[in-house]
Amino acid sequence: MGKRIGMLTSGGDCQSLNATMRGVAKSLYHMYDDVEIIGFLEGYKGLIYGDYKVMKPRDFSGILTQGGTILGTSRQPFKLMRTPDANGLDKVEAMKNTYKQLKLDCLVVLGGNGSQKTANLLSEEGLNVIGLPKTIDNDLWGTDMTFGFQSAVDIATNAIDCIHTTAASHGRVFIVEVMGHKVGWMTLHAGIAAGADVILLPEIPYDPQVVAKSIKKRAAEGKRFSIIAVAEGAISKEDAKLPKKQLKKKLAEDAQLYPSVAYKVGKEIGELTGQEIRVTVPGHTQRGGSPCAYDRVLSTRLGAAAAELISKKEYGYLVGMKNNETTKIPLSEIAGKLKMVDAECSLVKEAKLVGISFGDE
Ligand code: F6P
Repeated sequence: MGKRIGMLTSGGDCQSLNATMRGVAKSLYHMYDDVEIIGFLEGYKGLIYGDYKVMKPRDFSGILTQGGTILGTSRQPFKLMRTPDANGLDKVEAMKNTYKQLKLDCLVVLGGNGSQKTANLLSEEGLNVIGLPKTIDNDLWGTDMTFGFQSAVDIATNAIDCIHTTAASHGRVFIVEVMGHKVGWMTLHAGIAAGADVILLPEIPYDPQVVAKSIKKRAAEGKRFSIIAVAEGAISKEDAKLPKKQLKKKLAEDAQLYPSVAYKVGKEIGELTGQEIRVTVPGHTQRGGSPCAYDRVLSTRLGAAAAELISKKEYGYLVGMKNNETTKIPLSEIAGKLKMVDAECSLVKEAKLVGISFGDE
C-alpha cells in the first residue's frame, strides 16, 4: 500500500533544508512504488490555507547542494496558533482540515524550536507528525546536532578568518557578531575554529573589565591585534543580574543606542582599552549558500530515518542524533525546551585552557 505524505519547512531557513527533504523523499520513493508527497508552501501558512503543490520525484533531484528551501518558509509564531487570523479563521482547525482533506498518512515538519512546538500541538490533536531538527542555532532539545549548524559555523569561521588578516595588518581590535539567537553554540564553535581571543556567550555573562584586561594583556605581550567573537545574545554580568522586567527595559534602551550587541561591546572595550575598534556583523550570510559536507550527510541520515519511522507508522517523534546515531525522541519531550551551552562543559574548559577568555574570570 502506498503513502501520502505532507511536508513543510518552517521558521528561519538554513542551508540543509532541501538536502533533508531529499533524504526523506528518496527513501520513500525507494521503499514504496506508490508515494505521493504534498509540499506545503511557506511553512505552516501553506497547511493553514491549503496552499501546496504535489511534488514529483524530479523535484527532489539536484537539490542536495542547494541552500534555502524549494517550498519557501515563513515564521508562524506558536503563541499565535490558537489566535484566529484576521478573518476569524481557527488556524489549528484549518490545519487539521487540510490534513484530513488531503488524506495524509503523515506530516513531516522541518523546523526549529517554535515549529516543533506546533508539530507537537498537531500531534496532540491527533495528526501523525514527524519532526526534523532544523536550525543554525543548534538549540533544539533532544538532539546533539541540528542540520544547518555546521554549515553556518563554517561561514562564521570564514568571516572571522577574513577579519584575522586585516586585523593583523592594522593592529586593531575586531569584534565579530555571530548569530545563534539566545544560545552560544555557533559563537563557541566558530570562535574556537577561527582562533578568536575572546568569546562572549549568552550562557556566560561577561564583565567588560575582564575582557579589557585580556585585550590589554595581549597588547603588553606584543600582540598587535585581538579578535572578539560575540554571540548576538551575549549579555553582561551587570545586565544578567537584573530582574526579567528590568532587563527587558534595559535591552530596549540598548536597542535605541546600538544596532546590536557587538556595537555595545565595542564601545565598552574601546573606552576601557583606548584601542581602535571595528565591528563586523556577517548576519544572514550565515544562513546562506550550500550545505557543507557534514550537513549533507546528516540531512541524508535524518531524512532516511524519518522515512523509516513513517514505514513503521511510528509518529509523534522528532528524529535526532545521539552519540552519532539517528534516534527518535517524543515531540512532547522536546517541545518548548532550549538546549543551551553548559558553562562548565569540557569544550568551554578546553577553550579556556588554550587561553581563550570568556570575559567571566
Ligand atoms: O534561528 C535562526 C536565526 O538565524 C537566529 O540565529 C537569528 O537570531 C534569527 O534566526 C534571525 O531571524 P530573522 O531571519 O527572522 O531575522
